[in-house]
Order: sequence, then structure tokens, then C-alpha cells
Amino acid sequence: MKLWGGRFTKETNELVQEFNESLSFDQTFYHQDIRGSKAHVTMLAKQHILTEEERDTILQGLTDLEQDLETGVLTFDEDLEDIHSYVESHLIDRVGEVGKKLHTGRSRNDQVALDMKLYIRDEVNATDELLHKLIKSLVRIMEENKETYLPGFTHLQKAQPTTLAHHVGAYVEMFIRDRERCKDIYKRLNLCPLGSGALAGTTYPLDREYTASLLEFDGATRNSMDSVSDRDYLIEFLNALSLIMMHLSRFCEELILWNSNEYQFVEMDDSYSTGSSIMPQKKNPDIAELIRGKSGRVYGHLMALFTTMKALPLAYNKDMQEDKEGAFDAIYTTKSCLVLFEGMISTISFRPEKMAESAKHGFTNATDAADYLVNKGVPFRDAHGIVGQLVLTCIEKKIPLDDLSLDEYKKISPVFEEDIYDAISMQHCVERRNTKGAPGLQATEEAIAFYQDYLKQK
Ligand code: ARG
Repeated sequence: MKLWGGRFTKETNELVQEFNESLSFDQTFYHQDIRGSKAHVTMLAKQHILTEEERDTILQGLTDLEQDLETGVLTFDEDLEDIHSYVESHLIDRVGEVGKKLHTGRSRNDQVALDMKLYIRDEVNATDELLHKLIKSLVRIMEENKETYLPGFTHLQKAQPTTLAHHVGAYVEMFIRDRERCKDIYKRLNLCPLGSGALAGTTYPLDREYTASLLEFDGATRNSMDSVSDRDYLIEFLNALSLIMMHLSRFCEELILWNSNEYQFVEMDDSYSTGSSIMPQKKNPDIAELIRGKSGRVYGHLMALFTTMKALPLAYNKDMQEDKEGAFDAIYTTKSCLVLFEGMISTISFRPEKMAESAKHGFTNATDAADYLVNKGVPFRDAHGIVGQLVLTCIEKKIPLDDLSLDEYKKISPVFEEDIYDAISMQHCVERRNTKGAPGLQATEEAIAFYQDYLKQK
């Protein structure tokens, strides 16, 4: 049954029907559509727009319909325009004439705005929970690796030694920001658009605040034109998902490098790796690569919606129907990536000996050698030059600074004493860095304590 046959004299062209329909994808939120209808009908009865008897008949019809959809007695295998038409026409089939009163004081424009908000609200929370789980696993890795040394890089060149806990902690920070974004988006989107009608409200004495409270919103939206045409919250969420994907992708990129023959800092578990059909020796980090690759897909959906919304005049336009498939895909993709990534990182083997070995070479302790001189009264700029010369000597001899004899040190600067070796030992280099946020043991323990507390509270 069509919802709008009255003023038409011809049937819809078949291609138009197919091109226009959204049931094939907006069936995703049939729960939300039915929940919204129940709240609407409850409010209509409270306002004496429907009788209590009419309300109860409609509510029962909606409950039965939902159950049949859940158990698969009913399917979406029908030529109907969208989920709203589907629910309404099936309700009428079930309860008869009274079902036709459901749509009083409501339009599909505020209805779809509501459904999408209800749906996104749950997805924002689901994403947040997955992030919580991931952060928990990462903090566990931090606890186990407070003194696992590895080189820190700038320009992908070895720079200064740090610890695995410190490195992983950087990602914990990113994912904490991602969670904050989720909470922030939720807060802003949590106003109920139902009762805005097609665009200009309605003449029925609706109690919009009541409907909003039934649906656990913080209140009703303030402008009916904005209510039916606002998709900001969706763009914000797609942006938040894109950032999550960016963070996952950067981490994956590092794991792919670390898993390579050249680094060997980690070994992916067999259960999260794949083989090659031709090269028997291969064990490929496909999951990390796929997550990295899928970031492009999520960014794409963000760009698509931005572009769809650009230049849309007020209020509702059918263009907005295009918000759904991309959003659903972005949500599904990001959530799967979070799950897969968490599994991959929790089963990965770290190789501390390879990391420490790598940190030893590449002069990651050169800054500490310069700091040693500064502590003995040499101006930093001179110290920088002296250590530069030492590095040159070591490069020629193909040895790390740690293996240079004291004579050689003294040849370049008489300030050096036996204690230089201790000053540039990896442990010392890292341990002395205890400013807030640095990799030293004390600073790391403080960071971990903060994260544990955070995980308990939020
Ligand atoms: N399927 C539509 C959408 O997703 C629902 C709203 C339709 N409203 C309308 N006036 N045609 O946007």
C-alpha cells in the first residue's frame, strides 16, 4: 500500500519505484521505527488526540509486528517505499482502520530524523564500548612492557630510546580522545526531532517534551525546520569514525613494519596472519593491512555525506536519503576493525631482545651523551658538536657509542670520564626521562595508574 496515492492518476514507473525506495536498507532500523511509533501513539493518547483504547490496539499491533519481524515470520521482501510505509501498512493490515490514525501529527521527515538518531545513538555507545575494551588491552600491554626498550623514531630514523609501554601509551591517548568525541557527539545529538512534522510543526496539541522523555532524549529539538534537515550529528560521527580508523591505520602501519624481516620487533600470531599461495615461506599481516586499507572507505563515506549536504536548501530534501548506506557501512567497518585489531594486538608476540638491539644501534643515546657534557659544564651547542664528531668516528668503526674506548672519547673531549658508559646506557637514557608523559619508569607508572583509574570510571 502506498502512503500517498490520492493526488496521482498514474502508477509509479517501475524504475522510479526501484530508484526511489529505501526499504532495502532502512529496514536496518525497524526496531527504532517501531519504538518511535509507540512513543508517538502513547503521547497522542495522553493529549486526548487518540482514545486509550485506540492507543492500546495500535501498541499491541506494533508489538506483534515487531515480534513477527524478529522471528522471521514477516520479511521485508516487498515492493514498499521505506520502513515507515512498511510498518504503517502492516499495522493497518493487522488492526484495521484504527491503524490509519498512527500518522496523526507526524511526517516521515521527522520520523526518519528520529529513527536515524535513535539508531546512531546506540551505535555511538557501541563504538565507545569497543574503544574501552581496546584501551584496556593496550594498558595491559603497557603494564607488561614498562622496561621493554625500543628506538623511538622521527622521520622514521632512530631518534631516542623509549619503551614499548610509552609507545603504546601514545595510542591509548588517541583512543581516549576518540571516546571523548563519542560522548560529546551523543550529548549534542540527544534532542528529539519527533513532532516537527514535515517542516513547520503541527496544529495538534502534541507534547513533544513527553515524547522526548519516553524515548530517553534530554529534551525536544528547538526548531522544526532544523530538526528535519539536520545531519550534522551524522557527519560528526563519521568524522569520529574516520579518526578512529586513522589511529588504527597508523598503528597497523607500525605493526606491519615491526613484523617485517627488517625489524622483527613483533610476530603476528598465526591465527591473525595469512599465507601466500605461491611463496611457502610467507606469513603475511593481511589483517593489519586490511584495517589500514579500510580507513579509506570510511573517509569516503564522510566526504560523500559532506558533499550530499552541501547546498541543500531547507528543509527536508530526498538527497538526505543518501545518508544511510554510507553511514551503515562506515559503522560496520569501523566496529569490525576495532574488534579485529583488539584480537590481533592481544595475540601478538613482542620481541624485546630485537627491540633493544635495534635501539642500541643508530645512536639513539647521542642526545644523552651531549647532556652528559652539559652536566659537566659544556654549553649545549658545543656538546652537540663534540658528540657529532664521536658519532662520525663510530660510523667509521661501525660500532655504537657504548663500544668506543675511553681514550677515543677523551681524544675528542677531555671532559669524558668512565661514567660516560653508564650515562649513555639504554636503561639510564630512558630511566632519567621522568617528566610527565615521558618514558621513565616512574612517569610510566603514573600514566598507567591514571589509565586504570580512567578505565574504572568511564
Ligand atoms: N526514505 C526517506 C529518507 O530516508 C524517508 C523520508 C521520506 N520523506 C519524504 N518526504 N519523502 O530520507
